[in-house]
Amino acid sequence: MKVAIDGPAAAGKSTVAKKVANQLSYVYIDTGAMYRALTLQALREGIDPNDEQGLSHLAKRVTISFKYQEHGQDVFLNDENVSQAVRQTDVTNHVSDVAKHKSVRDHMVAMQRELAEVANVVMDGRDIGTYVLPQADVKVFLIASVEERAERRHTENLQKGIESDLEELKRDIERRDQIDSEREMAPLIQADDAIEIDTTSLSIDDVTNQILSLIQQAQ
Ligand code: C5P
Repeated sequence: MKVAIDGPAAAGKSTVAKKVANQLSYVYIDTGAMYRALTLQALREGIDPNDEQGLSHLAKRVTISFKYQEHGQDVFLNDENVSQAVRQTDVTNHVSDVAKHKSVRDHMVAMQRELAEVANVVMDGRDIGTYVLPQADVKVFLIASVEERAERRHTENLQKGIESDLEELKRDIERRDQIDSEREMAPLIQADDAIEIDTTSLSIDDVTNQILSLIQQAQ
């Protein structure tokens, strides 16, 4: 069973994808974390997010992997656990520029398809239903107003003790959505056969239950 969950930034994809995967003992694959890990290393090495060739070489040099631990899933860059580091503002601000290049995406998509082959998976991202797994059994496209998405991220940041500015978050989310939607290669777009769920006034459990019932119907 392959479940694709796509949608714009901060729409709650990873939260519900993790819950769905846990509930069904499926493997959760956070494709955004892969682009983030590459971006982190590019920033460390001073590779410009517009330097496609440099990024493409870097993608071939590093190993990005997931480890499934008791507390959830961690992303590794070579042998380093970068689960926290990939959430830094710096990485968030540059990841969409890194992810727009064809050769970068070709490399990541090949890895994502490989990961999906070996298990029942819930994969979240921007292009899973349209490009990475076009034959997915269930495709969901999560949306919410930009105000709601920024508010949620703001609350989450404050709870984690991270400094947060609501207006800045709104601008960052809009900017990322724009780059993701306008890129040439596998842009952020709803697949024709995806079910759209507007999460603006729904709880995490409501959304999780809707997806679980879509999976049940597909079995
Ligand atoms: O999901 P998350 O917000 O962590 O993704 C970070 C960024 O990675 C996105 O804004 C997008 O630019 C890129 N991304 C992508 N394709 C995916 C997943 C993420 O281009 N499948």
